[in-house]
Amino acid sequence: MKLIRLRIENDAMDITYHPAEDDRATAHYLIAYNREQSIGDNLENIKVRLAGLQFDAAILDNGLSYPFSDTIVGVNYDRIDVGLALTNLLNIPVVSRAAVQRSGLAAAVREKRHYLKWHLDYYGQYHDVRNNGQEAMLTVGNGYFGLRGAYLEAHADQDNYPGTYVAGVFDQETTQIQNHAVTNEDLVNLPNAQFITFGVDHQTPFTINSHDLQDVYRSLDLKTGILTTTKLVQLASGHQLRIRSQKLANMHDWHRYSIRYQVTPLNFAGSLQIYADIDGSVVNSNVSRYSAFDQHHTRTLGIEARGNAVFLSGQTRTSKINYTIGAKLTSPDVQDNEAVKSQQQPQGIRQTVSLPVQAGKTYTFDKNVVIATSNVRTAHPLDGVAAELDQSSFDKTVTASNAYWKKTWANADIQVGGDLTSQRLLRVNLYHSFVSAAAIESGQLDASVGARGLHGEAYRGHVFWDEMFILPFYTLHRPKLAKQLLNYRYQRLAAARKNAKDAGYAGAMYPWQSAQVGDEQSQVTHLNPITKTWDPDNSRLQRHVSLDIAYNVWFYVHATNDVDFLRQQGMEMLLSIAAFWISKAHYDQKTGRYSISGVMGPDEFHENYPNSDQPGLRNNAYTNIMVAWLFTVIDQLKAKLSEADWQSAAKAADFHAALGQKMQTIRQKLTLQINRSGIIAQFEGYFKLPALDFSAYRQKYGNIARMDRILKAVGKTPDAYQVAKQADTLMAFYNFDVATVQGIIEGLGYHLPANYLNRNLQYYLARTTHGSTLSRIVYAVLNQLDGNYDQAWQLFSQALVSDYYDIQGGTTAEGIHLGVMCATVNLTTRNFGGVTPFEDELHVNPQLPDQWQQLAFQHRFKGVNYHFKIDHHQIIVTADQASQLQIMGKPYQLQPQRPLTVTYAEN
Ligand code: BGC
Repeated sequence: MKLIRLRIENDAMDITYHPAEDDRATAHYLIAYNREQSIGDNLENIKVRLAGLQFDAAILDNGLSYPFSDTIVGVNYDRIDVGLALTNLLNIPVVSRAAVQRSGLAAAVREKRHYLKWHLDYYGQYHDVRNNGQEAMLTVGNGYFGLRGAYLEAHADQDNYPGTYVAGVFDQETTQIQNHAVTNEDLVNLPNAQFITFGVDHQTPFTINSHDLQDVYRSLDLKTGILTTTKLVQLASGHQLRIRSQKLANMHDWHRYSIRYQVTPLNFAGSLQIYADIDGSVVNSNVSRYSAFDQHHTRTLGIEARGNAVFLSGQTRTSKINYTIGAKLTSPDVQDNEAVKSQQQPQGIRQTVSLPVQAGKTYTFDKNVVIATSNVRTAHPLDGVAAELDQSSFDKTVTASNAYWKKTWANADIQVGGDLTSQRLLRVNLYHSFVSAAAIESGQLDASVGARGLHGEAYRGHVFWDEMFILPFYTLHRPKLAKQLLNYRYQRLAAARKNAKDAGYAGAMYPWQSAQVGDEQSQVTHLNPITKTWDPDNSRLQRHVSLDIAYNVWFYVHATNDVDFLRQQGMEMLLSIAAFWISKAHYDQKTGRYSISGVMGPDEFHENYPNSDQPGLRNNAYTNIMVAWLFTVIDQLKAKLSEADWQSAAKAADFHAALGQKMQTIRQKLTLQINRSGIIAQFEGYFKLPALDFSAYRQKYGNIARMDRILKAVGKTPDAYQVAKQADTLMAFYNFDVATVQGIIEGLGYHLPANYLNRNLQYYLARTTHGSTLSRIVYAVLNQLDGNYDQAWQLFSQALVSDYYDIQGGTTAEGIHLGVMCATVNLTTRNFGGVTPFEDELHVNPQLPDQWQQLAFQHRFKGVNYHFKIDHHQIIVTADQASQLQIMGKPYQLQPQRPLTVTYAEN
């Protein structure tokens, strides 16, 4: 093993390089500690000085002894977990000298590496959006509820935001702003039952503040779903305590969650108080730019105490969803449960227990919580909360959580060899994908996955086309869950029909932003804070969302062979969506082709033509390609249904024979604009727009991701330029394989030059600012398809860390980006693993990044479970049933449980 050893002192960082096991140093670096710079910048200096050297791990010689981490050092009146920081910086494990002495080098490194692959840890106290982003990343939940990973002792303020959300619990409020009535539908922040804190000698209860909080370490165990926070507190009174709390969601009885709160007085004996609240005073205030709108969505209707349990019941204000939250406080250190006192507060209820304590002894308190809401299909009896609470215990929650995660990791895990960071962050993404959705699989919840999970309030919890980046992952790992998510859309088919009808179209027009009932929840106008005028918001014209839903329906049916779903729901959805597009397409006498106008593509910088008062654009390439695809795929899927089933779906969708004929014509004659170089225009007229001088703007503004805001601030509009927020024209190449998209374009009667993909890719990449996190994912896939592996890797890596580092500077604080999280996983298996699920059998063409030694994962495809283990030379695939697949273009038969090894590249 090649190593570095380090000692961090106040004035210098002392590093030796050990390229062989014999402990001899071959180089010595003394890097002066620069007090002008941040700790992070100083550590960055290490990276630069060691550039080019090979090493697998680091040993830290002067780590302090802490109960939570042995790689913390004190430097210049500050403390830092050098281990965590250097792992992020150098992608290696950092072990302490003490660990090496205890277990030996090899074991210490192995243990640390294993630990890092399964934990998301933060050391120290952070503030503002930085801490809010960490809270989002530390969210615990089960798809029914999400609990942000805020400190349990915190109320909402500038630094802390303990949000609680339940899938599908939305509420609409109307606010009068400058004589405008603005209605918003929000995912409701429900009363906070996470709250628990302590006090000493009946003094003021502890709150999170920088004076008392000496140290804090937060660790999310991805393997078990337990969030552990360890704090060292020194109160102004001199009392020192260690507080260790654990919080986790019950993954089986998904109304429940549990908290274990452990207090150790370190330097005193006296009296300790525990305060556990259900706080009904919460509002939706996670997103500061929404603060002008009414944030009150709940009304408390009843508060009650029964023994050591308390209950708060209420209702959302306009959607009238009832909820009851029950909490029970117990402690093995309090003999008599009667000692738990309850006290009603102005907007909630507090439980208090007081006990005498000794120095050095740990006292344990368990808070079990049950949340019940009336939006669950077999309505959870709200008055059954007490019974459910009686059944709850911390240990039971741990058992249920362990069981769920064990099963989940057994079939959805992705193992990456040789890249700690990718391994850890892929697991973080997998973890959040289940936290956002797991319970929906039960069929009891009429909900889908919001763009920001159950992790924050951005986009008000709404459901977007982001589903298209998310559902394929569930389809390949949890098909039942994917089906329930599609069912959310099926349940809103009637609403989509109404949307279409109200807009003067036939069929079903799904809303761009969907929430409780499936009507359009995008804003119509926005108050411009500078000009004080109400500017139109045309984002709802992203009508492609219906096509993205159709894509998910097709992909689900294709990958699962669930013909029942197609028969009962899927075909009706597809035909209803098709009917909408038929009514939207119009024949142009001049060109002899069909056009679709009044739409926007995914690029939100282009809402309409400059100097036009007509909203929307004409012939958006992505939309038209997807319409042509839909019209073709309906025919293919029809073959899976009996005539009677087809007729009944057609009847339900009001899709008569004449529409079928029209569909055939339109699908060959939709308009695209393609120039002489083979560049496909994002929309008709695109080539007439001036290009933007990106380098000049970069020089002036640095980050130009939100070029729309930059331009609007100086009175310009992005509509007027060739500048895109995110992938648009080439989106279809993300959805399908190249041959399929090319086939669609040629089917429309257009010809493309041989190297059209590369030309289009470079053209649009040069015009895209990646103002949406989804953009990098799409361009990573495109680059990989085009053989630009370095660029693909760069974009993938940025997408992978985007929430971890909150690369948009504050958006993670308002919730994770679930689309990008699931898409990084899809990209890993589909593009790097090269396992493509688009044909009737899986096709395997691995293209592992150089940075990875090995990749292992599973897929469930057409009822068969496949396990893949891929390195740079070999593929080992095992299936649980006899099946066949193609590897590097050659067909192979698989026998049940018999691994097949194929060498695809020489050593
Ligand atoms: C993106 C959309 C996305 C939405 C929700 C926006 O910034 O431009 O494509 O659907 O965020 O994630």
